[in-house]
Amino acid sequence: MSLITVDSVINSLRKIDDPDLHKDLVTLKMVKDVKIDGKKVSLNIELTTPACPLKDKMKNDAIAEIKKDHPELEEIEVNMTSNVTTQDDEKMKEYLPHVKNTIAVASGKGGVGKSTVAVNLAVALAKDGAKVGLLDADFYGPSIPLMLGINERPLMVNKDGKQKIVPLENYGIKIMSIGFLVDNNDPVIWRGSMVSGATKQFMSDVDWDELDYLIFDLPPGTGDIQLTLAQSIPLTGSVIVTTPQDVSLSDASKALKMFRKVNVPVLGIIENMSYFIAPDTGNRYNIFGEGGGQKLADELETVFLGGIPIDMAIREGGDSGKPFVVSYPETEYTKKFIEIGRNLAAQVSIRNSIKNKIEITI
Ligand SMILES: Nc1ncnc2c1ncn2[C@@H]1O[C@H](COP(=O)(O)OP(=O)(O)OP(=O)(O)O)[C@@H](O)[C@H]1O
Ligand SMILES: [Mg+2]
Repeated sequence: MSLITVDSVINSLRKIDDPDLHKDLVTLKMVKDVKIDGKKVSLNIELTTPACPLKDKMKNDAIAEIKKDHPELEEIEVNMTSNVTTQDDEKMKEYLPHVKNTIAVASGKGGVGKSTVAVNLAVALAKDGAKVGLLDADFYGPSIPLMLGINERPLMVNKDGKQKIVPLENYGIKIMSIGFLVDNNDPVIWRGSMVSGATKQFMSDVDWDELDYLIFDLPPGTGDIQLTLAQSIPLTGSVIVTTPQDVSLSDASKALKMFRKVNVPVLGIIENMSYFIAPDTGNRYNIFGEGGGQKLADELETVFLGGIPIDMAIREGGDSGKPFVVSYPETEYTKKFIEIGRNLAAQVSIRNSIKNKIEITI
């Protein structure tokens, strides 16, 4: 019978790889607090995101490997914890010192569902236990206040000698939008420089506090404004939302290339309005075509993060101020949003691990 030691337990975990980072848990320094008490072992596995797509599988694999090497154990307790990774970035430290990752949700074409996707993804990531913020950077058509049912003005606080805006909160996320500050009926004429200036203020003058992911809902298009925003926001990466329709795909391709041009990594493509299942007949209709998002991701060598169908309740969720994933938590389509959120979080972790490794080896 082998002797159970902290080292022998750690050795068992060397056989398990993180599915995204492709290295074993011990090399990645994810195994923490191994404790042995007679015939009981407990330990923590610290993931790079609470929204890990394969959290349960890793836990089961860890228990199985330890059991295989130490059959005499009576109890094996594996706790899955997380500590979201970040990158060392000067601009990020200046504008968003407590925010670990920033993600822009963008599209070439308007009306493809960026805001709907951004809202539901933000809530899905928060449901997984991440600290999430949502910054409405669409100064021309801020739709976030309506979509999240917020109709109040944010407060100001004095923090470290500076006046800061307190973001509003709903459904477990922190939110900031120009819609909170100007009257709905007041047309505001924003010039490009004003938009980037206001976005900067929405980063540095808002008390975001600690966040794992700050999601930016961008205005549609690939013009001056979008280019300026892509350059002025310190971004971990961007995601491009498209429908399967050719005209939307071609604009999505332009948006993707714009981000690459200014060295913002593209974390992947999300296809919205992928198909429609008629509730009365169960028939499937590919209203905007089929498979376009995946094809575009393959062509442009990025990741297809997943697809969301057209559904009346998703639209109603936007209009009623209560997002779909909140109203219908146990549905197949909510699972799709959660899955896409997890795929996105995995891409962020992969980016951070590549970036941090490069910095170490240089
Ligand atoms: N999967 C979906 N099923 C049903 N309706 C949807 C879906 N996605 C978005 N919509 C609806 O389509 C319309 C446009 O969506 P949304 O406002 O999210 O798009 P957008 O890309 O942010 O638009 P803009 O370019 O104006 O910012 C909204 O009325 C929204 O409720
Ligand atoms: Mg929008």
